[in-house]
Parts: sequence; structure tokens; C-alpha cells
Amino acid sequence: MVETEEERPSLFSPFQMGLFRLSHRIVLAPMTRCRALNGVPQQCMVVYYAQRSTPGGFLISEGTVISPTGHGFPHVPGIYTREQIEEWKKVVDAVHAKGSIIFCQLWHVGRASHPVYQRGGAAPISSTDQAISGRSRILMPDGSYAKCVKPHRLTIAEIPEIIQLYRQAAINAISAGFDGVEIHGAHGYLLDQFLKDGINDRSDSYGGSLQNRCRLIDEVTHAVCAAVGPDRVGLRISPVIDHLDAYDTDPLNLGLTVINNCNELQQHAGQQLAYLHITQPRYTAHGQTESGPFGNPDEERQVMRTWRDAYQGTFMCSGKFTRERGIEAIESGDADLVSYGRLFISNPDLVERLSLLAPEPVKALMIFIAFTGGICIYNIIEKRPEGVMDLPKFFCSVEFIPLLVIHTSHGNELWALKVAP
Ligand SMILES: Cc1cc2nc3c(=O)[nH]c(=O)nc-3n(C[C@H](O)[C@H](O)[C@H](O)COP(=O)(O)O)c2cc1C
Repeated sequence: MVETEEERPSLFSPFQMGLFRLSHRIVLAPMTRCRALNGVPQQCMVVYYAQRSTPGGFLISEGTVISPTGHGFPHVPGIYTREQIEEWKKVVDAVHAKGSIIFCQLWHVGRASHPVYQRGGAAPISSTDQAISGRSRILMPDGSYAKCVKPHRLTIAEIPEIIQLYRQAAINAISAGFDGVEIHGAHGYLLDQFLKDGINDRSDSYGGSLQNRCRLIDEVTHAVCAAVGPDRVGLRISPVIDHLDAYDTDPLNLGLTVINNCNELQQHAGQQLAYLHITQPRYTAHGQTESGPFGNPDEERQVMRTWRDAYQGTFMCSGKFTRERGIEAIESGDADLVSYGRLFISNPDLVERLSLLAPEPVKALMIFIAFTGGICIYNIIEKRPEGVMDLPKFFCSVEFIPLLVIHTSHGNELWALKVAP
């Protein structure tokens, strides 16, 4: 049969993601923005998500903390109090009004925290009692950085409560109106601290073998699927990313074990997860992340293809996607969906920009002020009779300025400055 233009997948063609009909394959990647005052979503977040919504588009929220013990950054939103749920509703309503679908990313940072973020100054929790090495530091509420501390190693008896926190957070997210949830099993946070043998030094049923290290993420996925339905659950992993010391000696098979568990879950449930989201090995975060053993482009492609072929469902990739790389990934069948991070921060109109063959959007500068406000400078495309115009825009909502964070989309620098209140 001859493949027609309509049938050939492209970055701009529709896709059926389980329950959800998407009009294109460009997804907003989950990105921490530190603008939820004391964990509560603010109006600037309503604006941020609405700006990036398109009819039939798909957005994943910033990492959203599932319990008070899950915090490790200033002013990251939660989804465990009535007030947080009510304020998230405003974000979700604004996104839905623009015709987009939005999932809430469920996050627990584990040991990537500090007693300052924990009730009663307690130690953060983890799979281990070893601190993150000195190459990483924790951003404190006042904008300074602190050394990582020794965490409390979760006992087996404490694990059911952790699973219950993910389950309840998923229920809360659905009650806030989110269309689904993404379980954050990536980038060195709690679930990844169980997955990686560079961190997990346990000798009980949650440590040692690949199956044991994958047990917690599997149990969390089962519990969340049972609560809200597999078709409203996405899972994110990053087997090759070593952010926050999350090294593994065998990332290929670690990924395959998680994937096989997902396939089995799907078979038993008779339903697929919404998607599996994998971070490309080439992603680096602020110079803290180094490529793993799949660092060269051919090996990287091979490992991503192996996981893609093994997973029986929708496959999403993330990490330094340009326009060309996104088009290539979809047209070659390497991915069903591509999530864009930094380019979407600095280009709220990224979907239109990419579809219009606009130049690669690398010029934009984003300055955001943590807590409640933000100043964003970016370019917006406008279609005019004389052609496509690429115009600078200025968006400002400053209410309170204790911490200034500057992020450029091209240089990938992220740094924090303390500003006099
Ligand atoms: C400022 C910033 C915050 C991020 N926060 C999160 C997060 O909360 N959860 C997550 O899974 N990934 C997070 N990421 C990773 C992004 O989802 C994405 O995978 C990464 O930026 C690579 O895509 P890009 O090269 O298109 O930016 C963050 C990245 C950036 C730059």
C-alpha cells in the first residue's frame, strides 16, 4: 500500500495518545520554575501554562511535590493540600480553555533536599543513608547554596506510606482537573535513587538485583494506575542521566527492566499507560550532568531505539531537541512525541514557531523572579501581510523579589542571585 502524506507521521501531525487526541507531537516538558509561593500555584503560573497551550496540545506540569517530605527547592508547587489543589484548578482551567491537555508531574526529591525544607529539620529520605557527593549542592530558600546532607534510609516498613503518597497525589491531581499524571522516576530524585546502583546500596528486597531496584517504581506505578487508570498515567525515567550522582553500571538493562514491568502491567490491565517518557543521554543540566556510557550519538541512538522497540506503547523523548531533530525523530519512528524544555520556556509560541519554519529560537532571554512574579523577554511570531514577523515581547508580573534567577535558553546557564527584598 502506498503511504499517503496524511498517514506519514510528522512533528505536526495528529496523534492518538490513548484517550487523548493530540493535534501535534510537540509537548511542553516538565520544568521546575520555582514560582509557587510556599508550594501554592500563583497567577503567573496560570499565565505561563496558558501561553504555551495550543488546541490539541499536550503539556506536562513542572515537578509537583506529593508530600511535605518531597520538597528540595524553593517555591515548588505541591499537590497535597486543599489550597494547592484549588489553585492548580485555575491553571488547569486556563489550559483547557485553550484546548490543551495537561498532566501533573508527581515528584518527590528524596535525598536531593535539606533539613531546611523538612518539617522539624528532619533528614530527607532516600534509598540510602549516603549524601549526594560534593559536586552537587542544594539551592536554599534564600538563594544561597548548601552542602548535601546524609539522608534517612527508608525502612521496608516505611515504603507503603511512600506509595500511598503517590497514589493520593494522583487522586488529588485528577480532582484538580488534570487529565492525568506523570510519575517522575528520572534525574536522580527519589524513585531514581532506588533504580540506580550508584546510589541504591540496600541489601533488602528493594536493593541489589535489577528487579529489586525497580520494585518501588513498579509498585508506585501499579498503585497510581489502580487509582486513576493506566490511560491517565505517564512514566518518566532517565537510565543514562547521572544528575545528582544517579549513575548506573548497566543503564540499558535498567531501562529494559522498567519497560518490561510496564509491558506486564499493561497486559494485566488490558490497557496501556498514556506514555513512557525517556530523557536522551545527551541532556545536560547546568553542567552538573555528564553523559553516560552511551555518550556518542550512534550509541545514544541505538540505546533509545532498543527501549523504543521494547516498549509496547506511546514513546516520548526529551533532551536538546531542535526543530530538525524533532522532525527526524518522529518521521524515522524513533519517537511518537517529543518534549521540548528550554526552547519552550523562552518561546511560548514554540508550536507555531516550529511549524512556520521560523529560525531556530536561540536568542531569547528569560529572567524569572522566584516566588510570585516574573519578567520574561522573548520573541513572538506574528503573521502579517508582509510575512512572518519575529517580534520581541516583554511580560512582567512582579510582586515580590527575594530571589532572582536568570536562565538563558541558548547558554543553558542557570544561576541564582540574592536580591535585597
Ligand atoms: C529549568 C529546568 C527545570 C526542569 N525541571 C524538571 C522537572 O521538574 N521535572 C523533570 O522531569 N524534568 C525537568 N527538567 C528537564 C526537562 O524536562 C527536559 O527534559 C530538559 O530540559 C531537556 O530538554 P531541552 O533540552 O529541550 O531543554 C528541567 C529542565 C530545566 C531546564
